[in-house]
Amino acid sequence: MNAISVLAEAAPAKINLALHVVGRRPDGYHELETLAVFTEYGDRLSVGHGERDEFSMHGPYAACLPADDGNLVIRALEALRMAFPGVRLPPVSIRLEKNLPIASGIGGGSSDAAAALRALARHWNLDDASPLAALAPRLGADVPMCLAARPLLARGAGERIEPVSGLPQLAMLLVNPGVEVSTPQVFSALASRENAPLPPLPMNASLDGLLGWLAASRNDLEVAALSIAPAIAESLAALRASGAAFARMSGSGATCFGIYESRQAAELAAKAISRGRRDWFVAATSTTG
Ligand code: C5P
Repeated sequence: MNAISVLAEAAPAKINLALHVVGRRPDGYHELETLAVFTEYGDRLSVGHGERDEFSMHGPYAACLPADDGNLVIRALEALRMAFPGVRLPPVSIRLEKNLPIASGIGGGSSDAAAALRALARHWNLDDASPLAALAPRLGADVPMCLAARPLLARGAGERIEPVSGLPQLAMLLVNPGVEVSTPQVFSALASRENAPLPPLPMNASLDGLLGWLAASRNDLEVAALSIAPAIAESLAALRASGAAFARMSGSGATCFGIYESRQAAELAAKAISRGRRDWFVAATSTTG
């Protein structure tokens, strides 16, 4: 990779602060309502000129993923080339630092795909961003959210997005008990697919205001995920015991998040929870945007 022209793009973790399942579509996908935020912690993608298209991974979770077209980064690259058939798009070298656990409810693969779309569009000077928005849902239900990578409400299968302003920055701890969870399996295990919608979001919420809203909302996938991966209960218990003001599972799990009064409190909780649990993923971070 040519060091002079390497371009870096963050692929942040996506946290579903709340996720309500409000219906089911004829194609089998579920209608959701979710408030999602993104964190400073995440994967990192870099793009530079290549002799031919190249893709490599490093970082703690690199060995858990294929580097071929089973990888959403490669699928994003191929989809983008197909979307610009008449345009010369020179070969690229893409490197992914994989810090987020796989199949863990925080959008790792989707965020990598979205970061690849953003980085490649910048690298190739593709001024018109609209093909990116059209490609995103075809790569995965969470990719449109991850393409936006800012606080948002998402509806439909996740493709109808409304940016949200005025949320407080949250000090957060992400905890995964070292288990991968299959998203389709969690949706299949749902007891109810027609739940109440999200309560209205308060305008310019303080931390207390947001915590009140969170207490009135849910993650409708949590009970189903717990039935598949009971270790999720241990993560939630560890977060609550460490002083989190609020704890919940993100997405289809198994990663759970805790919200703390300060980043320092989150860092201290990270140390306490990591102790004696070497196979857990534990990351203190803050939300962005
Ligand atoms: O789109 P993606 O491949 O990320 O979705 C994974 C699976 O999660 C789908 O095959 C589907 O079983 C389930 N899903 C769903 N409703 C959604 C999002 C995902 O049923 N809104």
